[in-house]
Amino acid sequence: MESGVADPQHGCHWPVLASIAADGAPDARTVVLRAAVRQRRELQVHSDAQAGKLAQLARDPRACLVLYDGAARTQLRAHGRMRVHQGDAAAALAWQALPAHSQALYAGVQRFALLVLSIDSLDWLLIDPAGHRRAGFAWAGETLSARWLAP
Ligand SMILES: Cc1cc2nc3c(=O)[nH]c(=O)nc-3n(C[C@H](O)[C@H](O)[C@H](O)COP(=O)(O)O)c2cc1C
Repeated sequence: MESGVADPQHGCHWPVLASIAADGAPDARTVVLRAAVRQRRELQVHSDAQAGKLAQLARDPRACLVLYDGAARTQLRAHGRMRVHQGDAAAALAWQALPAHSQALYAGVQRFALLVLSIDSLDWLLIDPAGHRRAGFAWAGETLSARWLAP
């Protein structure tokens, strides 16, 4: 995930963010992974503050980021709750760190939102011709439980 932040050639640069629509239906879209903060188990994404996903996440913050590193044939599904920062200090910091060409994608800082996923659980899948391997990781506070799901 950390490698994917800086490198647009890395599969993890382009995760899919899934959220829950008002009627309970699933929704998903491609985004850019902007930061991965290992110590806090956080993944960060940027969005237009008026995009549909913001209303969905305000209603239900449960979200999933799906990342696929093709070179490593590895899929990661990160589940957790999404915090939305808009018009606060965290959003301002993220905005200031953006290059001008990225800022230009937004109609000003007031339309910019920083989304922060706090990871509660992670599903790791390695596609291996010799047999797929899959593991699950879940955190309760700082306590990690990990188990093999396959084989
Ligand atoms: C390659 C690619 C990268 C994208 N990156 C982002 C992104 O970082 N943030 C974002 O909000 N939308 C991004 N989009 C657009 C979203 O996929 C989506 O169309 C848009 O956010 C509106 O979705 P929503 O109405 O569910 O909020 C990207 C789309 C593509 C194809």
